[in-house]
Amino acid sequence: MRKINFSAGPSTLPESVLKQAQNELFDYQGKGFSIMEISHRTKIFEEVHFNAMKNAKTLYGLNDDYEVLFLQGGASLQFAMVPMNLSEGGVCEYAHTGVWTKKAIKEAQILGINVKVVASSEDSEFSYIPEVNFSENADYTYICSNNTIYGTQFQSYPQSKAPLIVDASSDFFSRKIDFSDIAMFYGGVQKNAGISGLSCVFVRKDLLERSAKKNIPSMLKYAVHSENNSLFNTPPTFAIYMFGLEMQWLLDNGGLDAINERNKAKARLIYECIDSSNGFYKGHSEKECRSLMNISFKIASTDLEPIFVQEAEKADMLGLKGHRLLGGIRASLYNAITLKQCESLAEFMREFARKYG
Ligand SMILES: Cc1ncc(COP(=O)(O)O)c(C=O)c1O
Repeated sequence: MRKINFSAGPSTLPESVLKQAQNELFDYQGKGFSIMEISHRTKIFEEVHFNAMKNAKTLYGLNDDYEVLFLQGGASLQFAMVPMNLSEGGVCEYAHTGVWTKKAIKEAQILGINVKVVASSEDSEFSYIPEVNFSENADYTYICSNNTIYGTQFQSYPQSKAPLIVDASSDFFSRKIDFSDIAMFYGGVQKNAGISGLSCVFVRKDLLERSAKKNIPSMLKYAVHSENNSLFNTPPTFAIYMFGLEMQWLLDNGGLDAINERNKAKARLIYECIDSSNGFYKGHSEKECRSLMNISFKIASTDLEPIFVQEAEKADMLGLKGHRLLGGIRASLYNAITLKQCESLAEFMREFARKYG
């Protein structure tokens, strides 16, 4: 029996996607080999690769102003590739909303980039999304869409005349996005859209021109990956195949508006449970910044937290221990978590509060 997996990532996959991968694992579409065992230069793999790219763009409704890149090194490598490829000797502006922006800022600083932190919520343990005002003449501006650890999420993105870069690792493909100011939108796909090993980057073509002028190693250069259709070297073929299955699953299930509605309904169940617990549970994020993806909360009496995690495991619910930096409990409700699974968690939380409250 499969358990309910609320892990923050890598995380649960849609059952139908797993089953299709299982069916095709030994013999891919009657070809006599698996997709993992063939060259990335074959027509069979290229079809998987380009189809996944096309469907990813379709889901976000992107036109040919944007290109999709498949890269490795996790979202973390993008923390360095962004400044390497896109800085132009001026100021690069960051909104600081948690651990993942801290790491991105650090990588830019290591590279000697002139980083300006224009907004921060560090004063209150990143429990809110600060107001962000970017200046017009920055080389680029940078935000993290959803803060996986603290459970906050930009409800809409700040305006930016300079090219806006968005780390969307933990709310990738979970809602429609207005791309008008966005020059680059990226994430590791292992939370909401596949398995680890693949980063998907949507990049506007004018940024590729910036990258092309840079004297940096080939593997770290967006322009090189773009010129080679993300087949410059051997890509993570199985991760791309899984990403393709996820794109198809999203399309078959109504696309990003439909998944967003489901995600809202799922998160509402858990937040209602927190809000109606008379202080037994306390959400970390301020209400207006709440994430639909990661719900971080504490239990008034902290010694109950390990008991909560233990009892949840006994009830076949996994991955609920909070991140070590924040502590408490965290439920990650990514795309593949179902409404029914959230109902089970809400019921468990109510029962736990009755028992120990
Ligand atoms: C928002 C965000 N950005 C970046 C990362 C780093 O991703 P990776 O481990 O793929 O390098 C994570 C990982 O959890 C994340 O949540």
